[in-house]
Amino acid sequence: METIQADVAIIGAGGAGLRAAIALAEADPKLKIALISKVYPMRSHTCAAEGGAAGVIKADDSLEHHFNDTVGGGDWLCDQDAVEYLVQEAPKELIRLEHWGCPWSREPNGSVAVRPFGGMKKQRTWFAADKSGFHILHTLFQTSLQFPSINRFDEYYATELIVDDGRCRGLTAIEMRSGQMRQIQARAVIIAGGGAGRIFPFTTNGAIKTGDGMALAYRAGVPLKDMEFVQYHPTGLPSTGTLLTEACRGEGGVLLNKNGRRFLQDYGMGPETPLGKPVFKTMELGPRDRVSQAFWHEQKKGNMVPTQWGDAMLLDMRHLGEKTINERLPLVRDMSISYMGVDPVTDPVPVRPVAHYMMGGIHTDIRAATRLAGLFAAGECACVSINGANRLGSNSLTELLVFGRRAGLSAMEYLQSGPNAGSDAATGALANAAQARVRALFQRSGGKESVVGLRKEMMQTMEQHAGIYRTGEGLGAACDKLAELRRRYARVELQDKTNVYNTDLLQALELGSMLDCAQAVAASAAARRESRGAHQRLDFPSRDDKNYLKHSLAYYNRAEVPRMDYCDVVITKSQPGVRDYSGGHE
Ligand code: FUM
Repeated sequence: METIQADVAIIGAGGAGLRAAIALAEADPKLKIALISKVYPMRSHTCAAEGGAAGVIKADDSLEHHFNDTVGGGDWLCDQDAVEYLVQEAPKELIRLEHWGCPWSREPNGSVAVRPFGGMKKQRTWFAADKSGFHILHTLFQTSLQFPSINRFDEYYATELIVDDGRCRGLTAIEMRSGQMRQIQARAVIIAGGGAGRIFPFTTNGAIKTGDGMALAYRAGVPLKDMEFVQYHPTGLPSTGTLLTEACRGEGGVLLNKNGRRFLQDYGMGPETPLGKPVFKTMELGPRDRVSQAFWHEQKKGNMVPTQWGDAMLLDMRHLGEKTINERLPLVRDMSISYMGVDPVTDPVPVRPVAHYMMGGIHTDIRAATRLAGLFAAGECACVSINGANRLGSNSLTELLVFGRRAGLSAMEYLQSGPNAGSDAATGALANAAQARVRALFQRSGGKESVVGLRKEMMQTMEQHAGIYRTGEGLGAACDKLAELRRRYARVELQDKTNVYNTDLLQALELGSMLDCAQAVAASAAARRESRGAHQRLDFPSRDDKNYLKHSLAYYNRAEVPRMDYCDVVITKSQPGVRDYSGGHE
């Protein structure tokens, strides 16, 4: 098998992976960096982020405010030392992006513009119209091109981490164009592979978000933390699940039920605020967990609007006017017309909650280090615990910048600590074994299970039992079903036995990752017998700090369901309190 040598291998070339690569290349130009991605970097899911990235910039704001909004928004499950680091580094990262060419939107006086965002009680979301993720990704990608030490391996699918003598020493990956397996020997590995939203059928997530990075670490013995916390974004297009950014509401759009009522005032997010200017109070700018939960209750009351794609609410932006919509929300207008046949300038757009983001992920410490020596993680695939039980919109782009950089620097410090080189023979043998496991998929015959069929059943299970509201009974059923699907997965037979761009093989491998992530979500949710943030149990409707102010840790268990454990939440200065979104903030 061909071996590629690197000092640091990075799996994932979206925002976090690119930021880690740049940090490493800047810090030490002699390092050999292998940037491995199953897609070309500009096709990474960071591209789909719309609304913006949070960082304190206005005179009336402070790091303290950003910290408090984030910790309260996360229902006190955030590690507060990590949040302090996030808010302190955020403005530096966003200004750095400005220097690298990110075209942030501007105020008339030329200063950087910021917009209100859900759960943020001050204006601190930097944006580039409603294509912020695209521009951030583009800025990082073009910046990465100036470093010859960053070697890209586009369209390589990572299959396993190589772990020898208690250290991560690289990975195996399939070069998709040839179907050949490669061993990538590296002294440190950073996983930045994104989330696993595709375990749900209705999601804002692109098809690539299949939890591969999470599964790699999980199978190597690193726990997945807080996986029960899955974020529903309140405003997806019912036809496709495509995101209509929270910025629609940040700019002043309002949510109406079938009676034309701004229903959020009935769910602790009033009083009703005036129309016609950015509504910088609560109502439509409540946190995502609460807003999505309100949709659920309205549906039970029969207050939603029927559409050909199911029940929806109406997002009304007409009062913003064509000029503002074109300037601030051009993509929203474009997508509403293309996918719904509705022009927001003249009509309200139907929307409904949609699975959007995983607060949980690979357990890391504040340095982005995992419990496996030599392995680091950043971005959505990781859980450094800045999001707790509910992420605030626009903290994730900031997180991938701040902790992407941190992962790069931590990997460099790890190399400087002089970890032993390991044995080529041992890593070679492990790589061969990994290759044999993939080849074995080609040998299977007579199987009746299909990737498509199992994937559909998995998604339906997650939708039915692990959505906005959950019960112990439903989660138990989900755990049983996912265990069954995993057994049946072992009998999947490939229809395509060729090598070149074998998407049948890749989708089978992705399904394996998704089943592992789905099991971690369901098992973690079943074990958390309380309601907190995005995890709402109808059978345990209250938050229970006495028993559950702790992070869940799901450990991979080859034959059975995950093994659950817990670890402490880091609390530095904010004791758990009541989340209050009932009043204006200015
Ligand atoms: O609504 C949005 O633009 C999404 C932002 C986010 O998830 O941070």
